[in-house]
Amino acid sequence: MKKRTIPNGAVHSGSLILVGASHRCPELPGRELTPVGDPADRVLLDRRAALLLDRLMEAIQGWHGILPVSGWRSRGEQREIWEESMAQNGAEFTRKYVAAPGHSEHQTGLAIDLGERREEVDFLCPLFPDSGLCGRFRRLAARYGFILRYPAGKEAVTGIAHEPWHFRYVGAPHALIIEESGWTLEEYIAHLRRRPWGSDPLRYRGHGLDVSVSYLAASDGGVTAWEPPEDGPYSISGNNVDGFIITRWARGW
Ligand code: DAL
Ligand code: ZN
Repeated sequence: MKKRTIPNGAVHSGSLILVGASHRCPELPGRELTPVGDPADRVLLDRRAALLLDRLMEAIQGWHGILPVSGWRSRGEQREIWEESMAQNGAEFTRKYVAAPGHSEHQTGLAIDLGERREEVDFLCPLFPDSGLCGRFRRLAARYGFILRYPAGKEAVTGIAHEPWHFRYVGAPHALIIEESGWTLEEYIAHLRRRPWGSDPLRYRGHGLDVSVSYLAASDGGVTAWEPPEDGPYSISGNNVDGFIITRWARGW
C-alpha cells in the first residue's frame, strides 16, 4: 500500500464537522453556497446539502407546505441574531435556542431551519410538527443525509434545547447510523474514536448501502500520514476536533 498524507488543516472541513459550544465554526473559504426552495426566500445552503434537500423535497412535494426559514449565516448575522434575541427574549431563552456567534452550525452552510408554511412563521422557533408533510420530511430526512440535530432528551449533550425545525446535513450513511443508534453528532464523533483506522470499523448495511466507518487521529505537525484503501471508493471528512472520519464504500456509493 502507498503512503499518503492529509494536511491537518482538513480536520476543519467536510460534512461531518462538529460545531457547537466547545467547537467553533472554522473559516471555510472554498464553500459553495446555493439557494434552496424559492430563490426569492434568499436562503442559502452548501451546494451538496442543497441538492439532497431538493431531492427530498421533490420526493414528498415538500416545498408546497414547508418553508426554508434560515440556512447559511455569516458570523456577523449570527451575532446580530444573538444580540437581538438577548435584547428581546433574554439570556435564558437565547442560550437555549441561539448558538453563540462563531459557534453556530448555520455558519457552515450545512444546517437549515424549516417551518410549516403559515401566515406567520417565527424566525427563531418555527413550527415543525411531527405530523403531515413535516412528519413525512422528518421520517425521510436520514435517507437523504439529514439529522435532527437537537433532539429532545439530549439537551445536556448538545447544549441546545429541542429544535424540531433544525436539520443538519452529514451525508449518507452517517445520518442513518446516527438516527438508528439514537445518537447526536457529538455522540457519533465520540463513538468513532473507538474505531481507529486499521482496526474494527463501524459497519453499516441497509438502504442499499454497505459501508465501513473509521477514525484517523490527526498526527502532531502539519500532516497525517496514512495508507488509503486500494479496493473501492472512500471519502474523508474532518471532525473539526482532532482527526478524520474515513468512510469506505463496498456498495451504494
Ligand atoms: N439555533 C441554533 C442552535 C443556532 O443558532 O445555530
Ligand atoms: Zn437552526
